[in-house]
Amino acid sequence: MNYSEDLVEEVRMKNDIVDMISGYVKLKKQGSNYIGLCPFHNEKSPSFSVSRQKQMYYCFGCGAGGDVFTFAMEYENFTFPEALEFLAERAGVELPKIEYSKETREKANLKSSLLEINKAAAQYFYVQLKSEHGRAGYTYLRDRRLSDETIRAFGLGYSNKYSDDLYRYLRSKGYSEDLIRQAGLINTDEKHGIYDKFWNRVMFPIMDVNSRVIGFGGRVMGEAKPKYLNSPETPIFDKSRNLYGLSRARSSRKSYFLLCEGYMDVISLHQAGFTNAVASLGTALTAGHASLIKRYVKEVYLTYDSDAAGTKAALRAVPILKSAGISAKVIRMEPYKDPDEFIKNLGAEEFGQRITGAKNGFMFSLEVLEQDYHMDSPEEKTAFFQEAARRLTEFEDELERDNYIEAVAKVYHIKEESLRKMVTKAAVYAGMAKPVERPKTASGKPVKKEDGNLTAQKALLTWMIDDQRLFGTISRYIQPEDFTQPQYRTVAELLYAQYEAGELNPAKIMSHFTEEEEHREAAALFNTRIQRLTTSGEKAQAVKDLLFRVKSNSIDVRMKNLEPTDMAGLQRLMEEKRHLGELEKLHISLE
Ligand code: GTP
Ligand code: MN
Repeated sequence: MNYSEDLVEEVRMKNDIVDMISGYVKLKKQGSNYIGLCPFHNEKSPSFSVSRQKQMYYCFGCGAGGDVFTFAMEYENFTFPEALEFLAERAGVELPKIEYSKETREKANLKSSLLEINKAAAQYFYVQLKSEHGRAGYTYLRDRRLSDETIRAFGLGYSNKYSDDLYRYLRSKGYSEDLIRQAGLINTDEKHGIYDKFWNRVMFPIMDVNSRVIGFGGRVMGEAKPKYLNSPETPIFDKSRNLYGLSRARSSRKSYFLLCEGYMDVISLHQAGFTNAVASLGTALTAGHASLIKRYVKEVYLTYDSDAAGTKAALRAVPILKSAGISAKVIRMEPYKDPDEFIKNLGAEEFGQRITGAKNGFMFSLEVLEQDYHMDSPEEKTAFFQEAARRLTEFEDELERDNYIEAVAKVYHIKEESLRKMVTKAAVYAGMAKPVERPKTASGKPVKKEDGNLTAQKALLTWMIDDQRLFGTISRYIQPEDFTQPQYRTVAELLYAQYEAGELNPAKIMSHFTEEEEHREAAALFNTRIQRLTTSGEKAQAVKDLLFRVKSNSIDVRMKNLEPTDMAGLQRLMEEKRHLGELEKLHISLE
């Protein structure tokens, strides 16, 4: 990033966070904060809080948090430079033209040219559909019961029968052959020369989360093969990081997505009022999709085709979603093939009932497994439960595992105790008796378990910001190096420096972190939920406890890491320990 810290600061200062977020979320003043319904998860009572003093927001429900930049990045899916441009423009700050390297400039130019050309192509296909040449396509879509409104909303189109129609159109608009090729819109061979990739098909523009056209799917209007033709991957079209329908689904304000297989399924579902439907782009679900979904919802209902392939795909998707922290349920479409046909035959209301009756992903996988066993043979039945027990061992969280053991025992009418014994045995066989590996999130980082010492460190940082009278007292006992987690320590160092310079500005600290994940974490630091302490006496006691806990933990940690020969170090730590005794007697006044 080439913009100076001063400029970033200027843009931040000129975009008051309460004003900015009010443009997206209805906020109400409560005490010194503003609260509203969190735009990053679905909720009925507000846990999203915005602080004018801190210039930060934080959701106590889902942990989303940060400054104005983070908000723009999370809400609009901007990169940091995009968020900066957006906010600069909003506040009327002129950004200096930055000198990008030639390579960066070319890459950025290529991407925006590809977006532009795709947009032109989509418009062309749409016009064709609505014209006389496109009658076949239009009739096809109407026969599939799509309304004009739906056709418009999804920008559906038609590529006509002439094999270089689009090519000639785009050339006439001034796009080079090379660019049209890079967009994946033409092919060349010796016999035919240059020809359009898509012809005589109904066209489904594929949009990214910001409704920009990044590729196309084209369907034949009869039985010919291939049924669908998709754009190849290009610098703007990454099939494993985009989902069909996402730009609309993300604002549906439902707490879950309906994940289906086909474009037509998404469109039918939206038309029937299920505007939270998305689909992968003709590929299997990947971890990339899962982490994209995770930005918007924590739950997915899989509504895959009811054939063997669809069932297999659903079974594969469940663990992928789970390891991204998304819980999965499975909706069955029997006796119909897919959501589109289901809705056409049984209507939206019945579909809604299938949603209500959706099965938990794990229970569904057992049901499928069951079909491989003759359950009336005692041996096979035992073998089935052995496999079920083995799968149950994969729940690393004890409480979750117990809940599933209970559920399985209930559904299959066996004794919970017997099943639990089988699970324990299976676990031993599987070598789970050795230390378990930490579960990994979709991004590959280990899942963090909240540790009481870290909570104390966070709470202390929150207090220091919330009640600046405490800063002096706290900083007499606690130094930045007492914060044992590296990011907390960095935050503390910056905060102490600001305090010394006489300006506490927590939002500014965000500039030191580049990842959204780090922004969240930093925002959480300043927004630890502090028990409602009413009297100043109670508050003072709480601060004292925190001081004591953070300091003694810090001493313990340093003690552990001490070189056995470091006598001076040991002496210093002993000294600090004695000092700790004084903390007990400390009197903090908050009157
Ligand atoms: P309709 O028959 O129009 O209802 O299609 P559908 O949406 O029900 O699609 P289907 O379940 O047959 O396939 C699911 C998805 O897989 C489609 O939306 C496409 O993305 C992809 N797909 C299907 N057929 C083909 C094909 O022949 N080639 C490629 N590349 N992708 C396909
Ligand atoms: Mn279909």
